[in-house]
Amino acid sequence: MQDLINQYLAEIELFFTQNAEELEQFRIKFLSKKGLIPALFEDFKNVPPEQRRAVGQALNDLKNKAQEKFNLIKEQIETGAVEVKSDIDLSLPVDFLQPGSRHPLSIIRNEMVQIFSRIGFVVAEGPEIEDDWHNFTALNFQQDHPARDMQDTFFIEKNPDIVLRTHTSSVQIRAMELRKPPIREIFPGRVFRNEAISARAHCIFHQVEGLYIDHDVSFADLKQTLYYFAHEMFGEGTRVRFRPSYFPFTEPSAEMDISCFVCGGKGCPICKYSGWVEILGCGMVDPNVLENCGINSEEYTGFAFGMGIERIAILKYKIQDIRLFFENDVRFLKQFTGVV
Ligand code: DAH
Repeated sequence: MQDLINQYLAEIELFFTQNAEELEQFRIKFLSKKGLIPALFEDFKNVPPEQRRAVGQALNDLKNKAQEKFNLIKEQIETGAVEVKSDIDLSLPVDFLQPGSRHPLSIIRNEMVQIFSRIGFVVAEGPEIEDDWHNFTALNFQQDHPARDMQDTFFIEKNPDIVLRTHTSSVQIRAMELRKPPIREIFPGRVFRNEAISARAHCIFHQVEGLYIDHDVSFADLKQTLYYFAHEMFGEGTRVRFRPSYFPFTEPSAEMDISCFVCGGKGCPICKYSGWVEILGCGMVDPNVLENCGINSEEYTGFAFGMGIERIAILKYKIQDIRLFFENDVRFLKQFTGVV
């Protein structure tokens, strides 16, 4: 008897229909007066007394299960919770897998890496948690330089000072300490500053740094390299201009602007009606910096540059708010689907 109960139970559990006629057949087969379950109750008389308790329980359970199944399907059919339809519609379009998208910062970083690799720059990386030497001192920052202030920089430890790197320039030092010239490298990475978060500023952002050290590297090489970059990144007609600037680790130093690629220089909200947008800092590596890394500054010269990836992405994609890069809102990210 127990075997029969198990067999019926399995059949009842598997039973499913959306069709009232089939449900009625189910009822007749198991639950009606002449059905299989009442027949088992009839046979119950013959079960030996010592098995009665267990078998009785199993039998009641079986009956309840059948009744519940019947009630459930009846309700589904009546309320239309399950569509009363017996055929599968093969003409319906399939559900496509939703493709993911590359993050806009990765798209721009990869593009930069590709542009510089075409002229022989190789990629290297350094740590995000840096010591004072690599982030400041070796880069010629004075002891009392404002960037060393707690208000500007996240300190992990004081004395000796360990910071979250404030720029990728620290990787220049690591490259020059580890490798001998010629060095022609770019360093993409994440940097951190103690900034109040707003639409224009964030405490995390990304930079790509470049470094070229060899015999006879000149400011003309710097200009030509960055001119090439601007053309590849923003289009053939892009003009560049260099403005004198100051960085502790380069001498002379400059900031580079490109002619606004949105209005072509006529003036628009992107370039704040000036016709130019600033995209990077650069300069000739200060001899002190070379010497700090054990490179003879009489023999070698070099240039360096650094730019923000967010800034370039904001310009290229006309993004209004830097926070969007870090919020992981799929409505934002989905707009980059298909860009590789
Ligand atoms: N490290 C600078 C910054 O974060 C950017 C920079 C300027 C990098 C001039 C350079 C450079 O390599 O030569 O603002």
